[in-house]
Amino acid sequence: MLPDTRWAPEVAEEWAQRLNADPELRMCLPTGRTPAPVYREVSKRGDFSQATIFLLDEFGLDVGDQGRCDEMLRRDLIAHLAEPPARLHGLDPQADDLRAECSRYEMLIAAGGLELTLLGLGANGHLGLNEPGSDPGSPTRVVELADTTAEGLDRYGAEGTTDWGLTIGLGRLLQSDEIWLLVTGEHKAGILEQTLKGPVSPEVPSSFLRSAENVVVWADESAASRL
Ligand code: PGA
Repeated sequence: MLPDTRWAPEVAEEWAQRLNADPELRMCLPTGRTPAPVYREVSKRGDFSQATIFLLDEFGLDVGDQGRCDEMLRRDLIAHLAEPPARLHGLDPQADDLRAECSRYEMLIAAGGLELTLLGLGANGHLGLNEPGSDPGSPTRVVELADTTAEGLDRYGAEGTTDWGLTIGLGRLLQSDEIWLLVTGEHKAGILEQTLKGPVSPEVPSSFLRSAENVVVWADESAASRL
């Protein structure tokens, strides 16, 4: 737990040190409001030029839509880096065969695994787009968005709307060598409490983090206020 104002710099500092120690780190990165301040901070400190990034998920929106995860990552992180990452991979919602696209991504990840996975925490407990009802072995796949997820897309600047997306499955995420769960704000206090103290169940996919090894919860004081 970190004071709210120290949260982003401290996470970024630790991350930059990890990149220094292992410049070729294979990472899975989320997008959204939670990681954005960490991305701003790490872009001043970290060298991503030899690193590999896998985007966690993608919405079924048109190319260039500002609410897409690839656009968010570009504007929150990539645009601020002195040098771009060596490899940046994402799921393509425009692929003709979405099942084949998911298999391609899953195999690309499996080829070297994920060494460091950063995750945001959905207000409904989703991780990536593994919405409530997802089982812990779920593969990378096409998913129907929870209503609250679909309705919340405009806060990311989405111009279009969609009720589906693509996500790395919980199965692959939970096998990461290390997982950092990023959680900020009073509005996440209840779901963080359920994640860590409620029943382990598909109804709160984030609760499955308790069965994974090497999970670090980076919560600010507001998010941790009910723990
Ligand atoms: P947020 O989203 O960081 O924008 O709150 C988290 C999530 O829904 O996974």
